[in-house]
Amino acid sequence: MTILVFDSGIGGLTVLRETRVLMPSVHFTYVADDKAFPYGDWDEDVLLTHVVDLFGQLIERFNPNLAIIACNTASTLALAGLRETYPDLPFVGTVPAIKPAAERTQSGLVSVLATPGTVKRDYTRDLITSFAERCEVNLVGSKNLAAIAEAYISGAAVDESEILKEIRPCFIEDENRRTDIIVLACTHYPFLANLFRKLAPWPVDWLDPAEAIARHALSLSEKGGLLSTSGSGEQNHREDVALFTSGNPEFAIRRLQTGFGLKVL
Ligand code: DGL
Repeated sequence: MTILVFDSGIGGLTVLRETRVLMPSVHFTYVADDKAFPYGDWDEDVLLTHVVDLFGQLIERFNPNLAIIACNTASTLALAGLRETYPDLPFVGTVPAIKPAAERTQSGLVSVLATPGTVKRDYTRDLITSFAERCEVNLVGSKNLAAIAEAYISGAAVDESEILKEIRPCFIEDENRRTDIIVLACTHYPFLANLFRKLAPWPVDWLDPAEAIARHALSLSEKGGLLSTSGSGEQNHREDVALFTSGNPEFAIRRLQTGFGLKVL
């Protein structure tokens, strides 16, 4: 079985990491659309067409049994279009974890940290209306964090004051309440979680949906009879691979793929 994990950059590796733990017998193909990175401020119509068209090529080349869109910015826009265009391929999306945040918050003040694209999507607004009506949900669109995460994970020095500037609007306080949960609604952000914790004005729960997405992918694979065992079988011997649409990821990014056990195509 092959699972294709897709993102605009390296953020989807945070989802791949969890999915592998649950499905060690599966072969993974990681695709980073780095030529088009960042997706965060693309025009919606153009991005939708781009992602749906790109998937046509990916399906033809890799023939996956299941695809994980490990990108909130793409999922909140293109999931429906992808499912409609490629009805034979099961898709697992990554969308802001607003429902679990609403269930867990004590203060009722929840923030969603995402790209500007994810923040403005109807999909995200609908999640709030459907699941978080009793909470105050503060949407924070960050222009720079995904790129900062790429730089950080490649080993470059990052300016902590820049990061603080991006996360500061997530922290809201009134007379007797303050934000207690921040949803990491971009798959790049878990790479920065340690810095977020260090820089946070007060401790909060940073919600990373990667494990839930992995569980969803496992359950869909089992239901669809895609796995011969429950996924805990023998380690697969085919090498997992990574494709970068630029065709030329820089050295640090290549090294990172090797660290994740992925051979860059
Ligand atoms: N990793 C993507 C997400 O989850 C966003 C990065 C980008 O701006 O392209 O939304």
